[in-house]
Amino acid sequence: MTTSSGPERAKSVHSFREMKRRGEPITVLTAYDHLLAGYLERAGVDMILVGDSLGMTVLGYASTVPVTLDDMIHHGSAVRRGAPRSFVVLDLPFMSYQVSAEQALLSAGRAMKESEVNALKLEGGGPAIAETVRRMTSAGVPVMGHLGLTPQSVHQLGGYRVQGRAPSDAERMEADALELEAAGCFAVVLELVPSELAARISERLDIPTIGIGAGPGCDGQVLVTYDALGMNPGFEPRFLRRFAEAGREIERGLQAFVESVRDGTFPTDEHGFSADP
Ligand code: KIV
Repeated sequence: MTTSSGPERAKSVHSFREMKRRGEPITVLTAYDHLLAGYLERAGVDMILVGDSLGMTVLGYASTVPVTLDDMIHHGSAVRRGAPRSFVVLDLPFMSYQVSAEQALLSAGRAMKESEVNALKLEGGGPAIAETVRRMTSAGVPVMGHLGLTPQSVHQLGGYRVQGRAPSDAERMEADALELEAAGCFAVVLELVPSELAARISERLDIPTIGIGAGPGCDGQVLVTYDALGMNPGFEPRFLRRFAEAGREIERGLQAFVESVRDGTFPTDEHGFSADP
């Protein structure tokens, strides 16, 4: 059971399949650091994703492509420490698993041992990725798939756009999703996918789908936390709802600090210390 003060006991890959069976929506948000991870755990989020969106949100890159395995492990272990009772999934970054199944296993070994997360996520479909998923899951690594808009392939896809609109693309995505399930994935993210297609895939799979820009027919929903809290100024895609305006509150607080120091109202005597008599 999950309460608003956090999970009573850690979820497992089986919990998510059970939630799907019961028709209970799965909530997923991203975190990249210790303090934010603690907020997510206390809010009762079902799964925390250390996404490679880290590249844009925290590191200031234009895409997720430059993110390294070391970056992911560094932030993944901070999230683990901040949310010790949560089910944490870590993204394997670009080119840390696409070269071969062997490379994927070595990256997965480092990620699991050094960041102590519960599972890993990788992007894409097709026979090579399915084989990689098979190898990882038989080595004991839980894997979440990711289809639709796969940001690590943004240059190949020609931008951040909806995927699977054409019937042939939709058919391929459905087949990829079934193949990922057969290969052993415990869940699949569907990003920027037409709602009807995402609903159809969700119905055909026994494992849960986690949507972002994929409509209400998915078994769960994920958002990048900074976007959901209004901390990413100017980012207003159609699929996003801002659940808070934390960015405005941060700006207000920062301006108040600057003004208070400048006008001498902070610090006052009550913020200081006295010497021993
Ligand atoms: O990197 C990320 O944050 C993600 C989510 C958007 C699904 O992959």
